[in-house]
Amino acid sequence: MTFTPVELEVDTRVEIGSEAVAVAHPNIALVKYWGKRDETLALPVTGSLSMTLDIYPTTTTVRLIEGPSDVVELNGSTATGASYARVARFLDLIRARSGRSEHALVVSANTGPTGAGLASSASGFAALAGAAAAAYGLGADARALSRLARRGSGSASRSIFGGFVVWHAGEGEGEAGDLSSYAEPIGGEALDPALIVAVTDHQEKAVSSREAMRRTCASSPLYPGWAGDSALALDEMRKAIERRDLPAVGEIAERNALGMHASMLMARPPIRYLSPQSIAVLDAVLALRADGIAAYATIDAGPNVTVLCARADEDRVAATLRAVGDFVDTRTAHLGPGATLVPGGDR
Ligand code: DP6
Repeated sequence: MTFTPVELEVDTRVEIGSEAVAVAHPNIALVKYWGKRDETLALPVTGSLSMTLDIYPTTTTVRLIEGPSDVVELNGSTATGASYARVARFLDLIRARSGRSEHALVVSANTGPTGAGLASSASGFAALAGAAAAAYGLGADARALSRLARRGSGSASRSIFGGFVVWHAGEGEGEAGDLSSYAEPIGGEALDPALIVAVTDHQEKAVSSREAMRRTCASSPLYPGWAGDSALALDEMRKAIERRDLPAVGEIAERNALGMHASMLMARPPIRYLSPQSIAVLDAVLALRADGIAAYATIDAGPNVTVLCARADEDRVAATLRAVGDFVDTRTAHLGPGATLVPGGDR
């Protein structure tokens, strides 16, 4: 694909009251992003590959307001502290790009568990990037939006697109790194799997993924091994998706996720997201495979496990996971759409 150098166009007619609404869905990585080579630009150490889901959408409205600061409402409560600062910093970036100084009212509602390792920051920052760019008159194409969303939360770069998505690590540092590190869809929808989200815990995690990946990169002797293997896994995964080989996709995804958690376990101090409930779900996945069902687990930065399987097996897999204990709730997801602007916003 060719790269378009002029990706951001500013509409200078924007004024106070300009409003846009965007919807984005979470994604679950089958080859994980874990570790940044540049914190400020959110440039990853490795490329990653995900599947955008059709559940748990986030809807975000951004309106330009008169006032001394941004106002942020997340799931019905006014945001303060670190979560406020993260959104305000992201808006600063949009303001810098659009050459505008107005503050904004941001109202965001997330339908999935927040901060529990179920990609709420991915859908959140993808929706925010789409709505804020539109409200500030920043005509960004999808690739530019993906790069912008990346600055809010790395995994959000992938939620700009639907289906299977690769986020390129990109090359180099500074502007070269920024320009080359974006996500793009890779097709492969013919595989059309199911992903069963086994929620064992709705709690916000104790260590944020941001802090956990920082610590893993800085101190885990297993991290370089995982990162090197991940590059190979990404290559193999693309081929497996292309040839619709669900067992290969599942095996690569499970190994990559367990390796990421292994690298965290050897950080100083160690990070352990897996709970006894996660292990019980992982055991159920092994039992399903022993019964001849192609089911494979992946786990993000939290205790919840998601299980990849064929659509034909989704009910059986979900029932088996629920039978692990009454602490397990399941939601079944399929390939979902990319971020969209809701018509009827001001712009
Ligand atoms: C385990 O995108 O939440 O879900 O860039 O620091 O905001 P920041 O991290 P974030 O990390 C996601 C990590 C992961 C794996 C993945 O989604 O690829």
